[in-house]
Amino acid sequence: MAASWRAGILGVAPAARAPLADFDTGPAVRYPRQAQFHPLRYLTALAVAFERLGGRIFCGSRVKDVKGGAETRIRVQGGHLISAAAAVVATNTPFNDRVVVQTKLASYRTYAIAAPIAADAVTRALYWDLEVPFHYVRLQTTPDGGRVLIAGGEDHKTGQADDSAGRFARLEGWARERFPALGTVSHRWSGQVVNTADGLAFIGRNPGDAGNIFIVAGDCGHGLTHGTIAGMMLPDLIAGRAHPWAGLYAPGRAHARSFKKWAGENLNAAAQYTDLVLPGEVRSLRDIAPGTGAIVRRGLSKFAVYRAPDGTIREFSARCPHLGAVVCWNSGERTWDCPAHGSRFDTRGCVLNGPASSNLHPAKADASTAV
Ligand SMILES: Cc1cc2nc3c(=O)[nH]c(=O)nc-3n(C[C@H](O)[C@H](O)[C@H](O)COP(=O)(O)OP(=O)(O)OC[C@H]3O[C@@H](n4cnc5c(N)ncnc54)[C@H](O)[C@@H]3O)c2cc1C
Ligand code: FES
Repeated sequence: MAASWRAGILGVAPAARAPLADFDTGPAVRYPRQAQFHPLRYLTALAVAFERLGGRIFCGSRVKDVKGGAETRIRVQGGHLISAAAAVVATNTPFNDRVVVQTKLASYRTYAIAAPIAADAVTRALYWDLEVPFHYVRLQTTPDGGRVLIAGGEDHKTGQADDSAGRFARLEGWARERFPALGTVSHRWSGQVVNTADGLAFIGRNPGDAGNIFIVAGDCGHGLTHGTIAGMMLPDLIAGRAHPWAGLYAPGRAHARSFKKWAGENLNAAAQYTDLVLPGEVRSLRDIAPGTGAIVRRGLSKFAVYRAPDGTIREFSARCPHLGAVVCWNSGERTWDCPAHGSRFDTRGCVLNGPASSNLHPAKADASTAV
């Protein structure tokens, strides 16, 4: 009853199939009034409006920690300390929360391809399927007035698979079956999405903090929508006013209905620590080809070792600076990815995605002897 009432409000309607000319999807659900916009144009306009209203934007300033209290104190890498009445940590996976919210988030790599398609070959809409792993489709107009189809999916938990070539191939096969008019794939890439167990973002006061510290986290692949919702809610929440959506998005909300999924993700994260006691992937640095990386064990310690194309070796402790799981080599993107909570690092050890807020630790000098 409640579900049909909500469906009525949203106008969600069952359909015999999705509007694909050459592929019968079977029964589908249609969401009316979908919107599509260019994310960079949207963000640029937001930044311009923010500065016009007196806001100031500092790029390249990594925050080390945020502490609540009578006033909020924000410590920036390099030593600067900022005081504020309130702080919003909008980093998708919050670096200021080690446990409470992190146990409710799961980071996934998602893969995407783009290929030209005739403008009249596809009905303009955003498409999703319900396969595991799932797929999604968007259409984009190019600057010269052409049309590209972007297909995505084949997700896996960050750091828990290193088979991007196979995933891109499966994704292309899936797209060609449904959109036979697809041209040659021009772009391939992957990105990070951070999921909550119930599919809604966390927007509100951080449950693990005292004082006025707010988070916007767990984009669930809908961060542009969730970010916009956060912009609508946060002025009220910071000012201590009630907001009708506060309970729906509260970071401290219980996961009664999605408990099984939540528990499964946490068991999976805990299992990643068994890598600490396993052997290394190679016995000798000589086994690491130029442009690749591998985990090397020396005694009780593990090291993430990358050999640059010119032969230079870069070594780091393989323990993730977040909570100490062993990072894994991602050969598709040449990154070190942490299988526990999804932090990622480049081949110089610099953090790319949190929750880690610092780089991989350089290997100790006495550990760098070739084996
Ligand atoms: C293939 C793909 C398709 C998608 N499609 C859609 C879609 O159709 N609709 C939709 O709504 N969303 C979509 N998304 C999701 C959307 O792109 C993301 O949710 C969104 O970009 C997340 O924005 P964010 O600002 O929360 O996080 P991010 O873009 O990850 O930004 C976080 C920022 O925080 C910074 N940061 C991190 N740690 C620190 C620190 N310690 N100090 C200072 N800064 C820090 C990072 O450098 C980064 O700039 C898609 C994502 C992918 C990968
Ligand atoms: S991201 Fe948590 S241990 Fe690596």
